[in-house]
Amino acid sequence: MARTIAAPRGTRDLLPEETPAWDRAESLARELSRRYGFERIEIPLFERVVLFARGLGESSDAVEKEMFRVSGATGSEEERAEWALRPEPTAGLVRAFIEHGMHVRPGPLRLTLIGPMFRYDRPQAGRYRQFTQWDVEVIGDPGPAVDAELVELAHRFYAELGLTDVVAHVNSIGDAACRPAYRAALVEYFGRHVDRLTEDSRRRLAVNPLRVLDDKQLVPELADSAPKSVDYLCDACRAHFRAVLDLLDALALRHIVDHRLVRGLDYYTRTTFEFFVAGHEGQQDALGGGGRYDGLVELLGGRPTPGIGFGIGLDRTVRAMEAQGVELPPQPASLAVVGVGDDVADRLLVASRLRDRRLSVRPDGTTRKLGKQLEAAAKLGATWAVIVGDELAQDRVGLKDLVTGEQVTVGVDEVAARVSG
Ligand code: HAM
Repeated sequence: MARTIAAPRGTRDLLPEETPAWDRAESLARELSRRYGFERIEIPLFERVVLFARGLGESSDAVEKEMFRVSGATGSEEERAEWALRPEPTAGLVRAFIEHGMHVRPGPLRLTLIGPMFRYDRPQAGRYRQFTQWDVEVIGDPGPAVDAELVELAHRFYAELGLTDVVAHVNSIGDAACRPAYRAALVEYFGRHVDRLTEDSRRRLAVNPLRVLDDKQLVPELADSAPKSVDYLCDACRAHFRAVLDLLDALALRHIVDHRLVRGLDYYTRTTFEFFVAGHEGQQDALGGGGRYDGLVELLGGRPTPGIGFGIGLDRTVRAMEAQGVELPPQPASLAVVGVGDDVADRLLVASRLRDRRLSVRPDGTTRKLGKQLEAAAKLGATWAVIVGDELAQDRVGLKDLVTGEQVTVGVDEVAARVSG
């Protein structure tokens, strides 16, 4: 036998038994996108490296360590090194916003997509090299109402899915006016404790001192007494954050202010937030996260336009659903059409008529014994068997409940009402 080939490390196959939970999460995401007035957009799975470098920041992990380069088979080396699979969608979405002159549309724009993202990270539980996000972005709204509305949307998503105990961590990291003073305070503070920092943090201290707070190996006392961004906010950023917190209170949304929540991508300004199941608040545990990026459109060549959004990790959300034993809505009835002898054409015709009625139907196309067909149907998880026999001449069939074993004879056109009722 030939040697088998395994899936790439950090990727997963979703087997049929896993997909109902995914379908539930995805369909709820689409349904909530509609209820909150978001319009669907799609962008490529790969973009120019320079877009991510400029948008997310050269020193972000996503760019520095986790970029999945894509190269064509031909072309110059330079050309081939130009693209990367998207580690996240916000930069690409803002690129599309600028490229299509979407600022002239009546705004603020509410855009959403669901799709795969790629980060070449060390695979571990909850961290994959290919994962799926539900992303929402509001472009052209300075907030603070929309900041709270997005936190409310994410909370509603988790709640309607059936997850309990979800808490939002929120923070404000200021803007171009007040961030420099905060950075300087961090550099001064961590500079005094450099011997207690990890190698990674020492490097970050030079390029992006906020990210030192993100280091999971940071000594807790050092983290606790580090300068807090909220103490360095300018008046405008402070008022914005106060208003966001008041709105979260008014909407009774479960949240805590988390001074270490600086987020890993450089485009953030002001409000940042992440969602966790309370008590599971490690770095691989964030079910989703986002924040405001008021400088990103300009940074990527557009006119100054505020923006805010979030990405919810569907892989981690589905894991949390499994961990909490969330019940899925019952699956609609599934029918097998079985028969006797070589009446296969009749079975296909009946199956076709039942599908006209929107039913899920698998006809048995074999000539094996009726008993065997019924056995196979039950094994495949059918809830009803439609038995085609002589009564078809009167447009009637047998209808057997495969759970209770009860059987009746009904008109073909009555089957739909019987199995759905
Ligand atoms: P992010 O925090 O990097 O933000 O990712 C959002 C969510 O995607 C995370 O909370 C997590 O659930 C999931 N996620 C991230 N990396 C992985 C991974 N390697 N494996 C599994 N799940 C993962 C962003 O991507 C921003 N674009 C969010 C945003 C939108 N900010 C503003 N607008």
